[in-house]
Amino acid sequence: MPPPHAASLPVVPRWKSLRNSITLAANPIPLLNNYLDTYGDTIVVYLGGIRRTVLTRDPGLVQHILQKNHRNYPKSDLSHGIARYLGHGLLTSEGIYWLQQRRLIQPGFHRQRISSLVTLMQAEINDCLEPLEREAAQQGGAMEVAVHELMTTTAFRIIARSVFSNSLGEAQLQRMAELLTAIQAFYVRTVRQPYLRPWQHARGQFRRHDQLAAELRDIVRQYIRQRQQSSGPAPDDLLQMLLDARYEDNGEPMTEEQVLDETAIILVAGHETSANALSWLWYLLAQHPEVVAKLRAEMDQVLGDRPATFADLPGLGYSLQVIQETMRLYPPAWILDRVAAADDSYNGLALPKGTLISGYLYGIHHSAKLWDEPEAFRPERFGPDQLRQQAPYAYIPFGGGPRLCIGNQFALTEMQLVLLEMLRRFEVEWVQQPPVDLMPLITLRPRQEIRVRFRRRKA
Ligand code: HEM
Repeated sequence: MPPPHAASLPVVPRWKSLRNSITLAANPIPLLNNYLDTYGDTIVVYLGGIRRTVLTRDPGLVQHILQKNHRNYPKSDLSHGIARYLGHGLLTSEGIYWLQQRRLIQPGFHRQRISSLVTLMQAEINDCLEPLEREAAQQGGAMEVAVHELMTTTAFRIIARSVFSNSLGEAQLQRMAELLTAIQAFYVRTVRQPYLRPWQHARGQFRRHDQLAAELRDIVRQYIRQRQQSSGPAPDDLLQMLLDARYEDNGEPMTEEQVLDETAIILVAGHETSANALSWLWYLLAQHPEVVAKLRAEMDQVLGDRPATFADLPGLGYSLQVIQETMRLYPPAWILDRVAAADDSYNGLALPKGTLISGYLYGIHHSAKLWDEPEAFRPERFGPDQLRQQAPYAYIPFGGGPRLCIGNQFALTEMQLVLLEMLRRFEVEWVQQPPVDLMPLITLRPRQEIRVRFRRRKA
């Protein structure tokens, strides 16, 4: 028997979901927006025509599952499935084990701890921007840049350097990036198009991707062992933080496999998200010179011509607002999933055990009920006076509740540093191009490359 209120939830007819499953696989966002505009803010849809999910852009319901009644809402197999390739790190574990790991690792991501990683981040930003400056100089001072490619490389190198300091070789860095991309792309295909699974099995694609995951683990394992055997002074990086962490109850460190799991998760969770946010940031800035002018005025006042330090960042509030507004329009984690562990209800809506719920962050961030002119790029929304007026859970790029992104301070610091350092070195110019479409995989990528012209500021 369905619970009394379940029937009251609008359902997108199954045939319609099935008919649209190819469109859904290519870019679900316009389709999901259309369903929600047609049927209401919380609806039932069938993913790929098969998997029943409650899709919601109601911030109250999302707060309910992430925070108020979070104990009843573990992640679903859609999230856990990637553990097959990446292991059971923070992102993919649950219950007591997750809590124990979160407590152990959390101190490594505190703001104070991030300040010591800033030196590593800045060295990497420097290494990524210097070749660009040289090339721009050779091309008469300005060059057109494939921004998503540049930001992906930069963000990956920043996280890799924050984890491994300088110990990672160039070839292995490259290989790791390739492996992670291949594994994630395959995983998304298996979730979006579940009907292809028998064919993927028959073609040996699962086996092939298991092998790629094993290769990734071997590379990371080698660096963990190297670090453990080295006798010099220990570097101040995230790997060392994981190796030095001790469980409160027994004073023991993590096993090698646990360190491996957590490292793999940090590498994945920590680069594509920031890379996408930064790519969209340049896309927006190149179209909004008035915002760039405001950023420059703030930089002139606080920094003059020098690079920013960690201590400067709180005084550069507008640069943070620009990043926040970018992630409102383009939330890197655009959808989150949870499953009801026991029968529950929210505002009279029954959520029986086993209900899959998809919290649609993109929909919340673009809701006209929550945001004035939601499609407009207006960093002023995040000014200190405006923030107080925001409804709870109207803005949740890092999720919420106890599973709030552990890397949020890391990410904001990294993105502020990249933004400030690039603006210190370059003018940003728009290159005529058709509008860039969304490509929502696990994170919200640009479908086409974003092209921006960067002009050196110094002769
Ligand atoms: C713009 C950048 C980032 C965004 C938008 C972002 C977003 C998120 C979101 C929404 C979640 C919660 C997922 C859920 O509840 O289902 C999450 C979790 C997580 N993120 Fe991030 N993230 C970013 C950067 C980072 C970075 C840089 C790191 C690591 C250095 C990181 C590590 C993690 C980890 C380990 C979790 C799992 C936490 C847990 O469940 O305890 N993230 N992130």
